[in-house]
Amino acid sequence: MPIALADADAPAPLPPTRAAVSARTIRVGLLGLGHVGQAVARLAPDAGRLAERGLRVRIVGALVRNVDQRRRCVRPPRLTSNPAAFLRGHYDVVVEALGTIEPARAIVARLLGRGVPVVTANKALVAAHGADLARLATRRGTSFRYEASALAGVPFLGALAARPLVADVRQFSAVVNGTSNFILSTLETTRCAFDDALAEAQALGLTESDPSRDLDGHDAADKLQLLASVFGWGTASPAADDVRGIRGLTAADLHVARHLGARIKPIVHGRRTGRGFEAFVGPAVVAAEHQLAALHGTLTGIQLTGRFIPDLFFSGPGAGPDVTAATILDDVVETMTTVPAAAGPRRPPLPTVPVISPATRWFIRADFPGITPDADAVRAACAAHNLTVTHVTDAIDRSRWLCTAPAPAAQVTQALAALHATHRIQARSLRAL
Ligand SMILES: NC(=O)c1ccc[n+]([C@@H]2O[C@H](COP(=O)([O-])OP(=O)(O)OC[C@H]3O[C@@H](n4cnc5c(N)ncnc54)[C@H](OP(=O)(O)O)[C@@H]3O)[C@@H](O)[C@H]2O)c1
Repeated sequence: MPIALADADAPAPLPPTRAAVSARTIRVGLLGLGHVGQAVARLAPDAGRLAERGLRVRIVGALVRNVDQRRRCVRPPRLTSNPAAFLRGHYDVVVEALGTIEPARAIVARLLGRGVPVVTANKALVAAHGADLARLATRRGTSFRYEASALAGVPFLGALAARPLVADVRQFSAVVNGTSNFILSTLETTRCAFDDALAEAQALGLTESDPSRDLDGHDAADKLQLLASVFGWGTASPAADDVRGIRGLTAADLHVARHLGARIKPIVHGRRTGRGFEAFVGPAVVAAEHQLAALHGTLTGIQLTGRFIPDLFFSGPGAGPDVTAATILDDVVETMTTVPAAAGPRRPPLPTVPVISPATRWFIRADFPGITPDADAVRAACAAHNLTVTHVTDAIDRSRWLCTAPAPAAQVTQALAALHATHRIQARSLRAL
């Protein structure tokens, strides 16, 4: 979508923003004063490490929906619910933590078009419009930074941005959603019901008020899109059949995986190919010795394979207002102390590329109503639908677990739908990483 640069509401010309650095005070405008925005406002004044660098962050204005709502931070001098009034403020950097794509995209484009650097934590915005916004920042000689938008407490995007050869990423596998990882870890350690694990995540403030974006894989799909764009692979999202969530998994499933020498983790996987890239999002069976299998609770992590680096692994907290605010403030400081991140040769727009469903092995839990499925019958029924079963477990809690030869998602979905129609088999399928 084109980004409008016309700006009738622009304030009177600012003194050069770098001049503010010489005064060592960074004037920050906050888009959003929710969990993240308030944490930024709380952390900014007492960030001792910033003072050590001779810097001071002052929150000079904020945009919210409801100016009368009580906040857990000092009220910024200019608090408004009117985007035009916010845009009339003078800022050295604007931090975007609104959460939705609009009006965030329009306001961020306005600011970048005016040469004001922007730092965002908004993965949905970066996934959908990050490449356009970064190009706009380049044209205007300013910065657009988004370290907190993926694995908020793991500063790997900035590290890779400064290392073009290391950043020639060909494949990644990651746990990007700390909430889903927490729920699966809780199911495994306490053997509780899914709803109880979800309730615990909610009580700890780990979920949004509507948790479906976390539970159904959409938050992870945004991050997949963001990573494919940051790695220069192209813009595209996987097919609906390859974006799966964690609902319906049980403590028993996690224990069967453990019995098989593996763990179930909420995985995002991408691999660059000649034509586009392969990708999937969803709970997957991961060998116990894999680095991602060791991520417990809210921990997130990403394993990268590059042209020059065979195995690079980053991990740490993926979310939480305070850790996100710290990453945001680091981005603010970096913005004001380095040349614009987006400066350099202008990159052409990323192509829209096909996303292919990878052919992986699958683990399938098969249940018949009331009886244990016969192993040979299950094997034959799958073969009839072009799904090769390589192994069938003994009955576990009246279920059979099948391991298959590599197949793409659609083939598995079709085979399981047919099995249900013809044999009344209820099945839950998980990819193997
Ligand atoms: N929470 C985390 O741990 C975390 C970690 C990493 C990244 N992030 C990202 O950070 C962003 C913010 O997350 P959050 O948890 O702080 O969300 P949040 O608590 O829902 O806060 C959103 C803030 O934006 C304001 N807002 C939303 N729409 C608006 C609109 N149309 N006009 C004006 N103000 C509007 C809200 O105003 P009111 O308060 O008046 O309603 C609120 O202050 C999201 O993109 C999220 O994905 C969050």
